[in-house]
Amino acid sequence: MQQILTVEALRERLASETGVAFVPTMGNLHEGHIDLVRQARQHANCVVVSVFVNPLQFGPSEDFDRYPRTVAEDKAKLEGLADVVFTPAVQEMYPLQQTVFVEPPPIANELCGAVREGHFRGMATVVLKLLNMVQPQVALFGKKDYQQLHIIGQMVTQMNLPVRVIGGETVRAADGLALSSRNQYLTAQQRVEAVFLQQTLGKARQVILDGERNYVQIEKNAAIALAQHGWQVEYVSVRGQATLSLPNKNETALVILAAARLGETRLIDNVEVFL
Ligand code: PAJ
Repeated sequence: MQQILTVEALRERLASETGVAFVPTMGNLHEGHIDLVRQARQHANCVVVSVFVNPLQFGPSEDFDRYPRTVAEDKAKLEGLADVVFTPAVQEMYPLQQTVFVEPPPIANELCGAVREGHFRGMATVVLKLLNMVQPQVALFGKKDYQQLHIIGQMVTQMNLPVRVIGGETVRAADGLALSSRNQYLTAQQRVEAVFLQQTLGKARQVILDGERNYVQIEKNAAIALAQHGWQVEYVSVRGQATLSLPNKNETALVILAAARLGETRLIDNVEVFL
């Protein structure tokens, strides 16, 4: 595997490749990322992974400075799985002050976007830049970040980007907690309690499968259960998978999304429901 730090060297390295599959990440790789990298191999003979903690998608009071940076370990994990790891410095990614942005669709102001102002604009902007640098035929993203995957899908479709977006299933720890780089912020006690988020979504899903259609009540009950277990709930929301808007009565492909804090640590998760 080759590590590349500049856009110029990246373009040179990939110029002769006919099929490239791309997995963008912010590093601190875990099995969720690695699963996407393994899937990437099924789509192309050249697999590119980027590791870049993107300042543009962090708010002023968010964890950009303390976000775990573990490039040496990340490279070791990718050895034998990826062909190229692209690790640009902030100066390489943003040599000029970035004044051109992707304006994401209105859904970017809801759910996670309601609290993380500007997050999806910064995320979509860096993903567009990365797609332009790598020019892959296939790009893979996790359903763990369901709203992100949706917004990227909309950007690619509406901007006619010549890339196929593939969503990978959420990889979980043995107890069910969705793997996330932010899990390591949790204390040992919080790590045990963290599984309750996924369990709460699982229960809500079961209630829907049992026939309940009062989604507002389901959201309320889930939020109350989380609060009673010491979580600060940002949102629990039942949405339609296709648009992430509020589901109408006969929608059959749903997703329940949630964001909540345990202490200082903000966790997100979601579960799909097919009726
Ligand atoms: P990051 O959080 O590092 O995630 C990189 C990719 O891994 C994303 O597509 C994310 O959805 C996926 N992923 C994370 N945890 C996962 C899990 N438990 N199971 C499956 N996939 C998982 O998401 C970002 O970085 C950034 O916003 C990025 C797209 C790289 C733009 O900066």
